[in-house]
Amino acid sequence: LGFPGDSMRIRSYEKGESSKLELIAPRAFMGLGLARYAIDPQLDRNRVEDYYRGEIAGYARRVESGRGDMAIFVAEEDEAVAGYIVMEVEEPRTAQFGVPWGRIVSLAVDPDHQFRGTGKALISRGLDWLSSRGVEYAEVLTDQNNVAAQRAYEASGFRAVYASITLSRRLDPTS
Ligand SMILES: CC(C)(COP(=O)(O)OP(=O)(O)OC[C@H]1O[C@@H](n2cnc3c(N)ncnc32)[C@H](O)[C@@H]1OP(=O)(O)O)[C@@H](O)C(=O)NCCC(=O)NCCS
Repeated sequence: LGFPGDSMRIRSYEKGESSKLELIAPRAFMGLGLARYAIDPQLDRNRVEDYYRGEIAGYARRVESGRGDMAIFVAEEDEAVAGYIVMEVEEPRTAQFGVPWGRIVSLAVDPDHQFRGTGKALISRGLDWLSSRGVEYAEVLTDQNNVAAQRAYEASGFRAVYASITLSRRLDPTS
């Protein structure tokens, strides 16, 4: 435990393989029942799954479109896609604060491949990419109850700096 097997490797996302990542997204995010949409019983499960699939599909399209401010790295284990990380150089914040700024946009490891260091290996590769783009400050947002993600980020040198909550209420559409 804790060490990626010899068969694990991290590589860049290849054009046309979005559907492989779309299989992992709902398994990783809904399996643990941690992310905000995954735990809201008012939301239809199928739509939540679609949401997670659509999210990674959108990032994949953006990378495929050739915009250089986003990159996806894929973890492969025994030729199977085990996880992915989405990175972004944040031009608006870089301009706003005068610090070359980047973030981890998304990270997911398939439940069948978790606890073996794949998450940390993906984070490390993603941070190397940000560094290669001149980034000096990296951020990531995660849920307060997502202990696995916090552990993985803390093990990679991140420290918690801010926490927020989401509030919601029902409205009567007829009034
Ligand atoms: C977060 C996630 C990517 C971690 O992937 P992973 O490959 O299992 O992570 P690693 O094996 O590299 O472990 C990283 C650290 O987290 C710890 N960890 C992993 N899963 C954990 C869990 N469920 N509970 C507590 N700690 C956990 C590991 O022990 C390790 O800590 P250490 O270095 O101090 O020993 C994975 O759990 C996942 O895909 N979760 C669902 C999606 C998600 O939450 N993504 C992040 C959203 S911001």
